[in-house]
Amino acid sequence: MQLLLVLLALVYAASSTADEHWCYEIQAKEPNSNCKGPDQWTGDCQKNHQSPINIVTKEAKVNPDLKPFTFFGYDQKKRWEVKNDGHSVKMMLGNGSFITGGDLPAQYQAVQLHLHWSQDLNKGSEHSINGKHFAMEMHIVHEKGTSSNAVEDSKDKNAVLAFMIEVGDEENKAFQPLVEALPHISKPSTNTTVNEISLEDMLPKKEKLVHYFRYQGSLTTPTCDETVIWTVFEEPIKLHKDQFLEFSKRLFYDEEQKFVMEDNVRPVQQLGDRQVFRSHAPGQLLALPLPTLVVPTLTCLLAGFLQ
Ligand SMILES: *[C@@H]1O[C@H](CO)[C@@H](O)[C@H](O)[C@H]1NC(C)=O
Ligand SMILES: *[C@@H]1O[C@H](CO)[C@@H](O)[C@H](O)[C@H]1NC(C)=O
Ligand SMILES: [Zn+2]
Repeated sequence: MQLLLVLLALVYAASSTADEHWCYEIQAKEPNSNCKGPDQWTGDCQKNHQSPINIVTKEAKVNPDLKPFTFFGYDQKKRWEVKNDGHSVKMMLGNGSFITGGDLPAQYQAVQLHLHWSQDLNKGSEHSINGKHFAMEMHIVHEKGTSSNAVEDSKDKNAVLAFMIEVGDEENKAFQPLVEALPHISKPSTNTTVNEISLEDMLPKKEKLVHYFRYQGSLTTPTCDETVIWTVFEEPIKLHKDQFLEFSKRLFYDEEQKFVMEDNVRPVQQLGDRQVFRSHAPGQLLALPLPTLVVPTLTCLLAGFLQ
């Protein structure tokens, strides 16, 4: 009997610290790893309104309420604190940036920004669009209300803005201060500050931000709380290949700097009974079925030809 109690106590101790030992698939499959990969994550992680998902654009329903966002404080240039938290690089956003609009039920304050990536150009995003993954994905995590009137857990506690990142051959000047900070935070639990950088400069042009997808989901790391209103923007951010490669070259999962940080990406989850919505904005050519574009063009050409 006593032995049983001791065993139970051990099991309990092990499970109560499980959240501290979560890791991504690439870490879990290392021969000597003792961390828990995504299929063993605890908390809400095995529930059925989880993130990320694959977005099938032709099944996304247009919702006219998905109007443009208004961004406050996104233009302030600051020396933000950045850290390696052992899973990603995280930029802490203080309390001066927030968003409204976009059919959000309230004002949401920006708390932190972080990224997901791979060394492969088509594996590093968490969400996929029509089955296609991007090189990286950036998340700006917001919380409902302000720090002085925080709310308890609810389905709309968080709003995350997600941006796909593509790789090209042009330097992205706005990202350079972040890229240059990476060598200073190679090890987990280290931090530094970036040279002045504004959120606005890091994002695609404002007029592109009217096109986005919306669904209800979760945090993509344990404990995977189902508290997130997701916004996935259509327009990707573009980084130079060298800037992109710095993330997997400079950052490490471990203290000993043996495991480069890459593939910090949760696999896509089932959509289940959820509906994905899309904003309907003027000038959105992709929303028109192809024939409505092709027929007038052909008619014009033909008219010209017959003259
Ligand atoms: C939060 O805002 C207050 C002013 O409302 C300011 O004094 C304080 O320094 C800010 N805190 C952070 C972490 O930026
Ligand atoms: C790093 O984190 C520590 C502890 O939170 C903090 O005191 C320090 O100011 C941070 N350093 C930078 C450069 O932000
Ligand atoms: Zn994320």
